Amino acid sequence: MEDDGWRDLIALSGIERGWVTRVDLEGRPLAVYDTPTGIFVSLALCNHGGADLCDGYFDGHVIECPLHQGAFDVRDGRPVSAPVTRPMRTFPARVRDGRVQVRLRG
Ligand code: FES
Repeated sequence: MEDDGWRDLIALSGIERGWVTRVDLEGRPLAVYDTPTGIFVSLALCNHGGADLCDGYFDGHVIECPLHQGAFDVRDGRPVSAPVTRPMRTFPARVRDGRVQVRLRG
């Protein structure tokens, strides 16, 4: 389903509450975070060494990479703990009719 660039991703009931869920969309690995202030989405692969962030530790708004324990704030992608130094790629996300939607571009 497509509407102004919004793409259907997964049912809200299909993600782990308070945790991170991996969802692939058109071959793109995405991480869906359920946080106290809503749903956020980023690329699932760490920009430091390519580890799958969905195998990391998630707490509040911070995802910690499982490989070298670098960490990002999932709200804007900014790095919050070394060795990561660059922001991770995030995407606008929203919930409509019980479905998580994401906008990959624009
Ligand atoms: S691969 Fe993520 S911190 Fe190194």
